[in-house]
Amino acid sequence: MNVFITGGSRGIGRATVLKFVEKGWGCAFTYVGNEKGAQETIKLAKDINADLSVKVYKLDIKDADQCENIVEKAIDDFDEIHAVVNNAAVVKNNAAVVMSNEEWDEVIATNLTGPFYLIRSFLMHFISNRKGRIINISSLAQDGCSGQINYAASKSGLIGLTKTLAKEYGAKGITANVVTVGYVQTEMTKDHMADALHEFWLKHCPLKRPGTAEEIAGLVHFLASDEGGFINGEVIRVSGGLTYAP
Ligand SMILES: NC(=O)c1ccc[n+]([C@@H]2O[C@H](COP(=O)([O-])OP(=O)(O)OC[C@H]3O[C@@H](n4cnc5c(N)ncnc54)[C@H](OP(=O)(O)O)[C@@H]3O)[C@@H](O)[C@H]2O)c1
Repeated sequence: MNVFITGGSRGIGRATVLKFVEKGWGCAFTYVGNEKGAQETIKLAKDINADLSVKVYKLDIKDADQCENIVEKAIDDFDEIHAVVNNAAVVKNNAAVVMSNEEWDEVIATNLTGPFYLIRSFLMHFISNRKGRIINISSLAQDGCSGQINYAASKSGLIGLTKTLAKEYGAKGITANVVTVGYVQTEMTKDHMADALHEFWLKHCPLKRPGTAEEIAGLVHFLASDEGGFINGEVIRVSGGLTYAP
């Protein structure tokens, strides 16, 4: 079995690559600028299982042509891809009243339009195999989050996109689900999460801690595996029991 994961050069994406490798899957993963991080992921994957095929591709998910070309190349390299994980994303936080067009466009293009381009590029492959798994990574911001109107809109947009795919392609053996992440300490949250939000999390999350990237990766792998085959069109939180963002 082979999986395609966007944004495997660090954080949750890297942990997801390593989880699939641990479980014996071949992995195609992408990065956009951080080649060093991508090479480190390859090294860590080889340390787990040097016999598996793990390949990295440079991809700016905002670019529809790049998505088509890279998907074609990955299918060529692996013969068959069984699952796609839309993990790559960016944040550009600001209050709605002062948010620039660029901040809005960059986040929507990366977090919502990009996953659509990528999924569209995989659909014919999945349809002809009568099998495919689509897993999109969202955030508690999907229900609204102050200072993140662009990010929240992109992450709630993924829900409508995913539920539509679940209905449109379920009969072709393709499932689509959303994994909604709470708080995991990665470069994204280190660089863009306010101290007050970190404190809010520790105070209100029933488990009183952030999650780990591995805890997200475990569910992503389950949804892609045979055991996850009857789960379709769901939005599943991995958030230690905290169901909302402030
Ligand atoms: N961390 C959290 O607490 C948290 C909470 C809720 C939801 N999430 C979601 O979980 C996912 C992973 O988050 P993370 O914290 O692991 O993020 P991260 O550490 O910032 O990693 C982001 C990844 O996305 C890639 N990327 C960025 N822009 C891209 C583009 N235009 N085209 C292709 N790839 C691009 C980056 O590649 P380079 O390394 O090459 O730049 C990197 O691999 C995201 O969907 C995020 O929204 C995270």
